[in-house]
This record gives sequence, C-alpha cells and structure tokens, in this order.
Amino acid sequence: MCGIVGYVGSKDSLDVVLEGLRRLEYRGYDSAGVAVLADGRLSTAKKAGKLANLEKELAEAGLPASTIGIGHTRWATHGGPTDRNAHPHVSADGSVAVIHNGIIENFAPLRAECEATGVEFSSETDTEVVAHLLAAVYAETPEGSGRLAEAMRTVSRRLEGAFTLVATHAAEPDTVVASRRNSPLVVGVGEGEYFLGSDVAAFIAHTRNALELGQDQVVELHRTRGVTVTDFDGASVEPTAYTVDWDAAAAEKGGYDWFMLKEIAEQPQAVADTLLGRLGEQGELVLDEVRLSDQDLRDIDKVFVVACGTAYHAGLIAKYAIEHWTRIPVEVELASEFRYRDPVLDRSTLVVVVSQSGETMDTLMALRHAKDQKARVLAICNANGSTIPRESDAVLYTHAGPEVAVASTKGFLTQVVACYLVGLFLAQVRGVKYADEVAAIVEDLRALPDQIRAVLSSMDPVRELARSLATEDTLLFLGRHVGYPVALEGALKLKELAYIHAEGFAAGELKHGSIALIDQGTPVVVVVPSPRSRESVHGKVVSNIQEVRARGARTIVIAEDGDDDVLPYADHVIRVPRTPTLLAPVVTTVPLQVLACEIASTRGLDVDQPRNLAKSVTVE
Ligand code: M6R
Repeated sequence: MCGIVGYVGSKDSLDVVLEGLRRLEYRGYDSAGVAVLADGRLSTAKKAGKLANLEKELAEAGLPASTIGIGHTRWATHGGPTDRNAHPHVSADGSVAVIHNGIIENFAPLRAECEATGVEFSSETDTEVVAHLLAAVYAETPEGSGRLAEAMRTVSRRLEGAFTLVATHAAEPDTVVASRRNSPLVVGVGEGEYFLGSDVAAFIAHTRNALELGQDQVVELHRTRGVTVTDFDGASVEPTAYTVDWDAAAAEKGGYDWFMLKEIAEQPQAVADTLLGRLGEQGELVLDEVRLSDQDLRDIDKVFVVACGTAYHAGLIAKYAIEHWTRIPVEVELASEFRYRDPVLDRSTLVVVVSQSGETMDTLMALRHAKDQKARVLAICNANGSTIPRESDAVLYTHAGPEVAVASTKGFLTQVVACYLVGLFLAQVRGVKYADEVAAIVEDLRALPDQIRAVLSSMDPVRELARSLATEDTLLFLGRHVGYPVALEGALKLKELAYIHAEGFAAGELKHGSIALIDQGTPVVVVVPSPRSRESVHGKVVSNIQEVRARGARTIVIAEDGDDDVLPYADHVIRVPRTPTLLAPVVTTVPLQVLACEIASTRGLDVDQPRNLAKSVTVE
C-alpha cells in the first residue's frame, strides 16, 4: 500500500515522478503528492483523491523546473484521506520533505517529543514525525558527504514498525535518501540517473536495471557518486543487481478499457508461462528452483498453505490437489490468523506461502513465524525479488507478468497452477505417483491455456447477463469440492469490484441456515463439477440447484460442455470446456471474473481501483 517514487538525474523530475506515480497508483489512491528541489528550495504539491486531482492542480499552478524529486500515492492508515494528510510531509523549518509507506508504531511518543521542542504538527499522520526528526538530526550531523544518509540512519534506528521512507533536503541538491524496514523498495539504475520505486513499474520506462534492498538498509542516490547502500549502523552493503524481465509495454493497458480486462485476456499466456520449462519431455516435472532436497521433501509430514484474499482461495484449491496426489495432510489458513493461534510446526512441516505481490504483510509475518518454528517455507509468488520469496527457503515464481488491477485475475489462476505443480512435484519426489500418472496430469496441465482461451472466446452472453444483474443488491455463489473456493473467489471479485453484497457457500452447507437468504428472484451462481467427478458430487450439486430454485432463486449455472443434467433447473447456463475435476477451477473462475468486471463497469465504477482498497497490503 502506498506507492513511492524518487528520482535524481538530468530529466525533468516532475515528469519522471508523475509517470512513476501513474504506474504505482494501483497501490493506493486516497491522495497523491510530489516534492521537487530547485535552487535550494523544496516545493510541494499534494491533493486528496486520485492522482488526476493532483495532475489537474499541477497543470494550473506548476512547480519549479527541477531534476530531483519524490512522489507518493497514498492508502490512508493514520489520518483520513485529506489534502493535509497527503504526503510529502515537510519539516517545520521547510528543509526536509518525506514520503512514507508503512506504519510507524511508536509515532505517538516521537510526536510528543517533537511537540515538546515547540514543533507544531500540520497533519494527523505518523509520517510527519520523521520529517521533523530528520530536520533536527540533520542539523546536528557533521557536514560532509553522506550527511543526509547518516541522519536517516540515526532516525531509522529510533523507529518501530514498518516503513519505506524517502527524503530530500533543501541543502542537498544532488541527493535523495531512503530507508527500508518491512516495506518494499527497489532502486533503478539508468545512465547517469537513479530511481526509487515501491516496485519496478515506477521506473520501467527508463531502465530495466534494478537493485534489491534488504531489511534495515539505507540507500543514498547521488547525482555523481551513484548508489550507496548501508545498514542502519552505516556498514556498507553490496545490493543484489538484477534485470527486470518485462518492459514498459507490459505495464500499459494495451487498448483495453481496464487493466483488469487486459489481465483476464492474458491468462492463457500467463498460465503457459507458469508451466514453461517446468514440464519435462518425459512427462515429469522439473522444478529446479525448489531449493529443498529430495530428502527434505520426503521428510514432510504436513503442509500448511498460508495466504490472504484471493491467494487464500488458491490455497483452498491446492488442498484438494495436494492431499489427493500426495496423501499428505494439508491445512489452509488465512495468514492474518495463522501466527496468532500458535500452529503446530516443526522441521517436517512445509509451509507454502502464496502471494502475488510478495509484499503482503500478513503473509510475510506468517512466513517469519513459520521459519522461527523451523518449518520449511516455499513461496509461490509473482513479483520477482520481493520480500516474501527472498525470505523463503524456496520459491516458485508464477511468471504472470505485472498485475496492475487491484482485483487479482491472472495472479490467481497462475497461483492455482503453481500449487498444482508443487503438489505433483511432491508426489513425484515421494514416489506416491507412478511416472505415467504424473505424465497424464502433466498433459492435462498443458491443455489448460487452450481451455482458458476457449472460455474467453465465449464470454459475450456472460457480459449480457452481467448487465442484467447490475442493479441487484445480493448475489450468492455455490460450489462443492474445488468449486467451493471458486464460489468464494467469485463472491470476493463481485464484492470488491461492484460493491454488491455477495457470499460464497459450500453448496451442501446452504441448507444448514443460509438458504433462508433466498427470496423470489435472488440470483444464485452455481459452479457445477464435472459429471465425471468422484462420488457423484455432480448429482448432489444438481440437487442443490433444485433446492434454491424451488425457493425462488434465479439460477446461473456454470457447467461443463455436454452436461445437460443442469438444463431443467438453470435460468442461465455458462459453458466451460471439459477439464479434469481438480484442474477445473482454472476454467470455471474465468466467467466469474468477467461477470464481476462487467457488473462493476455497468454500475459506472472504477474497475481497476475499487474504493478503500490497494493492490499490495503492506500493513497488518
Ligand atoms: O499480493 P497477494 O497475493 O499477497 O495479495 C493478497 C490479497 O490482498 C489479494 O489477493 C486481494 O484479496 C485481491 N484484491 C483480490 O482480488
């Protein structure tokens, strides 16, 4: 949450910073602000609401020309989304401008300390204390190169909580400094120019050369000295360099009205990329990047899948597949609950953390707890070099490319596919599936991109249906077996995008109370398993459709091609290709994404940036 941009170079800093903020706006859009440094003076502009509000103001008032600047797009924590609380925050003497992502937990005593010296605060934020402290500490720091970085280290040592801080000082016309603890920050290195960003999207239009920063590090960007990284005590650190494997075009809408539509359309390729290089010619799985030895994998006697939101739903699907293929017990848990209930973990527990962004704080904290308890941690992640994969014992990247829309789509499908790979790999290494059985499932996995393409090519009736649902107050989603997490995901997509009350239920559970919600005309979406599914789950779901229809529901049924059993009870049928039961979520989820997107669009809402949300949730 919150997007951060910093720049030192020879270009117009306002242009560079605003362009970076446009690409990072998905991280938070409660307010936006910039500060530039010219002729020994800091100038700022900040505005509540989306970046467009700030841009409008800048178009009218402008800022002095400058080649050094910082910018911020905010997801509010301390203090409401007002102009005053927008970043940057400037010290009382006007010398320092600071932007911040995270929460400074000990801000209250620090604020009292500043106030005791006569400082008057102009916002309700936790961030403002840093601006005042930094100005005071800078004044006491001996003159010389690296003075602002030294002041930042001194201040950072006093802070508790999670923070990425970026600061400029009026007396340092060539320097931007930043500090990082538990919040994301990457450095971009161009030709004689340097960038900071919450993620590489901030500077991808200028350079693909990036540096990873570790925890508790301070970085100085200097126009002539370049990039210097230290820990909070000043010891020099060599950052890890890497090349970003996607370009600016990947971060653009590419002709679609919404990033979400583009990302839905990219799903066949994204899933193909998740599988790329991991399916061997003999039908075996090749997961070289799983840096756990075969013996480690054989020793595992329990798996936890830990994640949040949509990634949690991917974990719920993983449980069915991993348990079925490996016979290892799997528990799936919300990351925000996991570490606070003292789960039983040891060296033979595998904890799979699933996160598109790799920065979700709840998931990161769960990961750390698991490692403290000596469990092995495997991350399934999309964002290369982010904190979660860096702190895990092993990582499987999903290679979905940048996901910008707040609602996760290709991130989810590729997480599900990566979970299948983990389950099947465990089965292969542990010898609980014969090579030909693994090869048969690998063939099914290879077919998924074409099956998603087939779904996408027949979405016009779903869009039409969506338009007819746009004025509803409530939608219910039902599913059994792997269809249950799909129902949860369909409901989450609708809630977050269209602000319509939606709930997902296990279809068999509805009769234990929630069926009372059904009234004349209540739309109920039912994810129907394949007629070939085990233990006649299909027949039971068909009965569940009848039960809700008998009570007045308008039934919208997602069913496999050729499944005619549903026809007598369905007001609307959405067809998906025949897919093996465990893999079906990869196709049945897609119409639900399209449905939610179209309903939100029909209601005139911002599909990519729903209210109150941010893409990457970096607070607990
Ligand atoms: O980046 P992560 O996968 O860790 O994010 C987890 C959730 O915050 C995320 O999936 C969220 O639920 C999405 N907005 C759902 O569309």
